[in-house]
Amino acid sequence: MIGLALAWRLAQRGLAVTVLERDEPGGGTSRVGAGMLAPVSEAVFTEQPLLRLGLASARAYPGFVAELEEVTGRDTGYRKSGTLLAARDADEAEWLARELEMRSSLGLGVARLRASEARRLEPALAPALRLALEIPDDHAVDPRKLTRALGDALLRAGGELRCHAKVQALSVEHDHVAGVRLETGEVVGAGHVVVAAGPWSARIGGIPEPDRVPVHPVKGQIMRLHDPSGPGLLTRILRMRTGYVVPRGDGRYVLGATMEERGFDESVTAGAVYELLRDAGELLPGLAELVIDELAVGFRPGTPDNAPAIGPASIPGLSWATGHYRHGILLAPVTAELLGAQLAGEEPAFGELDAAAFAPTRFIPTGSTPITARA
Ligand code: GLY
Repeated sequence: MIGLALAWRLAQRGLAVTVLERDEPGGGTSRVGAGMLAPVSEAVFTEQPLLRLGLASARAYPGFVAELEEVTGRDTGYRKSGTLLAARDADEAEWLARELEMRSSLGLGVARLRASEARRLEPALAPALRLALEIPDDHAVDPRKLTRALGDALLRAGGELRCHAKVQALSVEHDHVAGVRLETGEVVGAGHVVVAAGPWSARIGGIPEPDRVPVHPVKGQIMRLHDPSGPGLLTRILRMRTGYVVPRGDGRYVLGATMEERGFDESVTAGAVYELLRDAGELLPGLAELVIDELAVGFRPGTPDNAPAIGPASIPGLSWATGHYRHGILLAPVTAELLGAQLAGEEPAFGELDAAAFAPTRFIPTGSTPITARA
């Protein structure tokens, strides 16, 4: 998602751009993601630069998808559904009250709803509901539709997309990145390389050690379901302490997701499926009537401070657009604009944002010598 969005923006600026995709476009983390655009729901008090980045991207989303839909004629599944955060018991209600206070102190759009008010909005919610928060500006998109549209838009803008082209290593000449080497041995030359390989980014060979962004996979198990009787069970995104249900608006739902430190373990476990269904089912009993279409595993690209790495490395010829952790779909428009403007030598886009908070070079350990300082 991130690589395609950036490549599209670069191709639109007239740059010659090739996406090297190891599988099919959008076939990695983006294929699994639910597609929530949820900067307010996922706000963390200690991560305010990330919050501002997310809010900027959420504001850019309507224009981003409208442009994509216009140039490709494809639907992106963008729905202005809004979100409900829900509590099942007294403990969770206390947690939700604290979450409300934090968001209100940051001036974020959130309203407290009594259980009866929430159930008027979403009649399928269980009587067990204790308290809810309404977040009217957190929406969702369908990442699978979106990546298809982006691939199409990239080609229409003159970009190149090479599928099943597995990058093995950077090709470095005289302390300057000069392209990449594929697993087949082919060397693809480039004036500039952007690593946008999500959780696999740090695995690419040849990255000079101080420059390697420490991206780490955080496993998520997630399921896709549909309602044989059609849409209507739930219209807003429903979030609870342990997960979320995202309605697609056509009777399909995504129920996610676990957060697991298990490296690249791809197994779907009975315990995870049980817990996801149990927790969401307590708030939305009608979930039990849905048909399971898919159980999937994805890997979020985590970083030590939960913020992405967007911008140049210290070695010339290399940039990063990775480490978007839980927010890759949300942050695609802002990432593409920030780095697109930078690589095209334009004025910084989103000048109000704290770009240093996302600089990949922030991970260079103090005391090591960045490549630019050696040159
Ligand atoms: N953004 C939701 C997740 O990572 O599960």
